[in-house]
Amino acid sequence: MASVDDILTPIVRNLVPPSLAWLRARGTLEAMKLNLTNDELLSTTRSVRKRLDFDRPVERAVVEECLNLALQAPTGSNSQGWHWIVVEDAAKRKALSDIYKENFKLYASLPGRKYADGDQRIAQMPKVRDSAMFLADEMHRAPMLMIPCIEGRLENVDVATGAGGWGSLLPAVWSFMLALRSRGMGSAWTTIHLILEGEKKAAEILGVPYDKITQGGLFPIAYTVGTDFKPAKRLPLEKVLHWDKW
Ligand SMILES: Cc1cc2nc3c(=O)[nH]c(=O)nc-3n(C[C@H](O)[C@H](O)[C@H](O)COP(=O)(O)O)c2cc1C
Repeated sequence: MASVDDILTPIVRNLVPPSLAWLRARGTLEAMKLNLTNDELLSTTRSVRKRLDFDRPVERAVVEECLNLALQAPTGSNSQGWHWIVVEDAAKRKALSDIYKENFKLYASLPGRKYADGDQRIAQMPKVRDSAMFLADEMHRAPMLMIPCIEGRLENVDVATGAGGWGSLLPAVWSFMLALRSRGMGSAWTTIHLILEGEKKAAEILGVPYDKITQGGLFPIAYTVGTDFKPAKRLPLEKVLHWDKW
């Protein structure tokens, strides 16, 4: 016979997003973890586009847990000038995705980067492009979109200030992506909505004070379809490693 808990739980879950404490008490957060080793996590956290599960709801509590981990990242002078906008509202997700899609059309029409004959990145490009086009069309279907922001404007700053600004946001963004992955979720790093007036339009949609706050990208958040992601083929270390001199 069904217990009171069995009957009430689905009703309650549909009424309010579960709290962190509620999930913890039921062991749900632990159960969601994939228990990857550190090296597995670092080598298999991919840009997920076609394997985002648009149909599975994402719990606020899990995203908050991932963001709490992200807040452990370093920031210049311990400034912690980061802000995180997580968008659940369907109309706003659509509006942001429309900006992305419009800018993506422009980006896709530009001549791509050229690589020397035989460079493995040439072979990888069609798959990346196909996957990126899919995301451009479907971004609005992600249960949540996240825009990481940093206090100040970075478009006209010198290299040191730029490095300090971005370096005080992007490590945390990567931590967030790792934390998602470790819980069977995924995202894709994207920056295309920022092109031209895109950042300003997104700021208007979300009420971000554009003159004081810089956006760092647009990140879909979703569970992934399967969790068996693989290490990517990269240029070999010897091509990019410099000991003692360039
Ligand atoms: C700074 C930055 C900007 C990126 N912008 C986009 C983007 O706008 N759209 C997109 O689909 N992917 C974007 N990517 C994802 C890259 O295409 C992806 O990281 C690369 O192809 C390697 O694949 P992987 O992340 O799965 O290893 C971006 C990645 C970075 C680091």
